[in-house]
Amino acid sequence: MTLNWQQRRLGVCYYPEHWPREQWAADARQMVEKGISLVRLAEFSWSLLEPEPGRLAFGWLDDAMATLAAEGLKVILCTPTATPPRWMLERHPDMLAVGMDGRPRGFGSRRHYDFSHIGYRDECVRIATLMGERYGKHDAVVAWQLDNEYGCHDTIRSTSMAARTRFQAYLREHYTTIGALNSAWGNVFWSMLYSRFEEIDLPIATVTEPNPSHTYDFYRFASDEVVAFNRAQAQALRPLSPGRPIVHNYMGRTVEFDHYAVGADLDAATWDSYPVGFLENVVAADDEHKRAFARQGDPDFQAFHHDLYRAVGRGALWVMEQQPGPVNWAQRNPVPLPGMVRLWCWEAFAHGASLVSVFRWRQAPFAQEQMHAGLLLPDSTPGPGLAECATVARELLAFPATAITRAPVALVFDYASAWAGEITPHSVDFTYFDLVFSAYRALRRLGLSVDIIGPDLDELSQYQLALVPGLVTLSETAKANLTRASTPVILGPRVNAKTPTFHIPADLPPDLGACLDLKVTAAETIRPDCPINAQHGALRLWREHVSVGPEAKVDGLADDGWPVSVGQGHLTYVAGWPDDALWQHLIKKNADAAGVETFDVPGGVGVRDMGGHRFIVNYNAYEVNVSHLAPSGFALGGPVLEPTGVAIAELP
Ligand code: GAL
Repeated sequence: MTLNWQQRRLGVCYYPEHWPREQWAADARQMVEKGISLVRLAEFSWSLLEPEPGRLAFGWLDDAMATLAAEGLKVILCTPTATPPRWMLERHPDMLAVGMDGRPRGFGSRRHYDFSHIGYRDECVRIATLMGERYGKHDAVVAWQLDNEYGCHDTIRSTSMAARTRFQAYLREHYTTIGALNSAWGNVFWSMLYSRFEEIDLPIATVTEPNPSHTYDFYRFASDEVVAFNRAQAQALRPLSPGRPIVHNYMGRTVEFDHYAVGADLDAATWDSYPVGFLENVVAADDEHKRAFARQGDPDFQAFHHDLYRAVGRGALWVMEQQPGPVNWAQRNPVPLPGMVRLWCWEAFAHGASLVSVFRWRQAPFAQEQMHAGLLLPDSTPGPGLAECATVARELLAFPATAITRAPVALVFDYASAWAGEITPHSVDFTYFDLVFSAYRALRRLGLSVDIIGPDLDELSQYQLALVPGLVTLSETAKANLTRASTPVILGPRVNAKTPTFHIPADLPPDLGACLDLKVTAAETIRPDCPINAQHGALRLWREHVSVGPEAKVDGLADDGWPVSVGQGHLTYVAGWPDDALWQHLIKKNADAAGVETFDVPGGVGVRDMGGHRFIVNYNAYEVNVSHLAPSGFALGGPVLEPTGVAIAELP
């Protein structure tokens, strides 16, 4: 069965193994009644599928799938490799990951495996193969999910013996000789020269900071281990299940592995969206902002991830898990405002997702997540999210298909830059993610739809404007794309600040030769309460002193006399981390020059143009007037958007 990827759908994460069989048929019927058409199954079910090594017990899953299929539901089937059963530890006692603190993870929750343990990786290939052989051509199966949320619970970087051994082999492969490694890392500093690869430990437990080149290679290695782990399962499954996309469900604000590299082996990107939990736990914002959106989630955070993962999925995007009510795992877990489940669904569709699958069908009265909402309460009475899903399902009848259209603006996001920022933040306040996200927020306040692109800047010439904040290394491809395209590009700060082995480039950053006649001569970080003011805003947290050559032109000076931005041809370099006002000034100036229309978007409102429509969502707890955003009228909603409201405007 091949899925029509363009069709917008609702799905749900369902755990038949948690409920008596007698309940399955009624559950399936009710799902269909509410407009759900896809069901995700089995991602934590290994100990039921294989209760003892080699003893397979797939019967319950056969029956559950048959029950769902009898109602016309289709299945996204998962490999259960995020939860190795207890017996696996008898077989592979050394398969537990070891944290950066040197402590092995214990059994009794999930994700307790080590990506570098080849014995466990082979077990994963074995179970994926068994599942593929049994269900690969099953009529109800339309897609596969591999594992569950790589990186959840801080599980990418393991300091196990397996990781150490494989890291040494990785270094040997990359550097060939120990002399090459010594010079690439600058080990002459502090007498760190090695004679053999076997001497190299993982960069933990050093007296003070380890060599950043060492850590950078370890982070890169750890990311590559995830790629290899994922690829092994994908390769095993693909020939067994022709025509069914293979995906993984990524998380919010997770940067420890290169999602583009993992995504290259998959057919689409999916991610798990928990807006209220994210705002509490991982969005960097002040208390006033967190208060205003405590029951809605951050108004830009989900949109950013939709755009990011649409890039990772090369245009194919699903939301695999959507918060249906309060979660259990954030610092505080408020109930979302009425209307938010509907809004989050529509926002995902607006950004190109063709499926929103809600986590989970029924709240579990037992084990770790008993305080986490489902669409049904534990006693099967409906929770508030269910009616909102049913509303979305009805509304989708008028907007059945997604069509991905290119945005006018590109924003670069790069995982290695996040690692580099983590290794030398130069300040307690610097994170690469927040730098890029601040640019994203500013673009959104101007009503600009954004495509996120990868660090090689491919397709740059297809955009009318691009932003490249903090891209720590410019590859030769990126340099060629930058210099070849005539697209206006805002670069900086911290662009091309390090070589791939973590040195300062010989000619000083940004090292763009004749294209950009400037050098960064100093990078300073400053207190949050000491911004450096300029005419159109301020630089905050990170600031660079630049020496400007005759070919480049200083566009604006800060109050202390140093350049804020410098232009040459289609490139603008910004010598620090702009505050909201300065970002917006720089973006608007370049957008105006490029003929890209901007709007004044009220705070808390999200706007996204996609496939002939402009989607407008109101994260505020109060109504807003959006008539100026809809010059050609509305296909859904109207000019006054209610709290948590959604409108769809016609584009001329
Ligand atoms: C996700 C995870 C789910 C469930 C959910 C709870 O991170 O994939 O299995 O734990 O969080 O919000």
